[in-house]
Amino acid sequence: MAASDPLLAVRDIHTYYGDSHVLHGVSLAVHAGRIVAILGRNGMGKTTLIRSVAGLTPPRRGEVAFKGRSLAGAPPYRIAQAGIALVPQGRRIFKTLSVRENLSLPTSALARGRRDQGAARAEWDLATVTAEFPQLAERMHHDGSALSGGEQQMLAIARALMANPELILMDEPSEGLSPKLVQQVEEIMRNVRARGHSILLVEQNLALAMAIADDIHVIASGQFVFSGTPEELSREPAILDRHLGVAATHAS
Ligand SMILES: Nc1ncnc2c1ncn2[C@@H]1O[C@H](COP(=O)(O)OP(=O)(O)O)[C@@H](O)[C@H]1O
Ligand SMILES: [Mg+2]
Repeated sequence: MAASDPLLAVRDIHTYYGDSHVLHGVSLAVHAGRIVAILGRNGMGKTTLIRSVAGLTPPRRGEVAFKGRSLAGAPPYRIAQAGIALVPQGRRIFKTLSVRENLSLPTSALARGRRDQGAARAEWDLATVTAEFPQLAERMHHDGSALSGGEQQMLAIARALMANPELILMDEPSEGLSPKLVQQVEEIMRNVRARGHSILLVEQNLALAMAIADDIHVIASGQFVFSGTPEELSREPAILDRHLGVAATHAS
């Protein structure tokens, strides 16, 4: 992989559920150390795009390449081992397991596989992750079900980091969180990027994406209707109004 090559390259992918054609030729690149956000209303194909990259619903046409290598035919665990972690929509933590057990799951199987492959990055372990998430440190022995929504989101992000991924896929991490917790998620994303990880962020929260993303794509009915910087998007009142429900007067 040349230095200028993107970490993740999605090229003209078409993804289906059975006969239902959901993604219609989506392309994007995520370069190392950057945050790329996908914005769009409910049902537009954001989760399907994440699933296409993670190997959960592989595209039927087009290509997903990670570090210059095609992921075609790779099952989800192989994609995870290659260095892509998923923070799924709705957190999906194990509610009957303790915080510590939740954090230990990926290290046992996944991180070992990554180490065997000679993965360079091994900075996240129980000690560094709990230093980054002090609230979790205090609740190591609580069950997942005892955590607040915000704490569950922190746990889902912490669990993804434990695999020491190069790229983190985050599916609506701010969903259902108070403004204060959204700010905390934003802070965590900044720290994670500062440590050299890349993030593909799917959101409906325009303010969050505008504040943190290096590049933004707006998706509508499985196609991008805007690609550019947050600054460029702020100068597109019609896009903001039509696809993100922001009144044009607010955008000017
Ligand atoms: N498992 C599935 N089977 C069939 N259709 C699905 C499935 N998941 C999502 N869809 C459809 O695909 C479209 C995009 O959904 P999704 O990617 O979840 O959107 P978003 O994450 O932007 O809300 C929607 O029309 C949705 O109904
Ligand atoms: Mg979704």
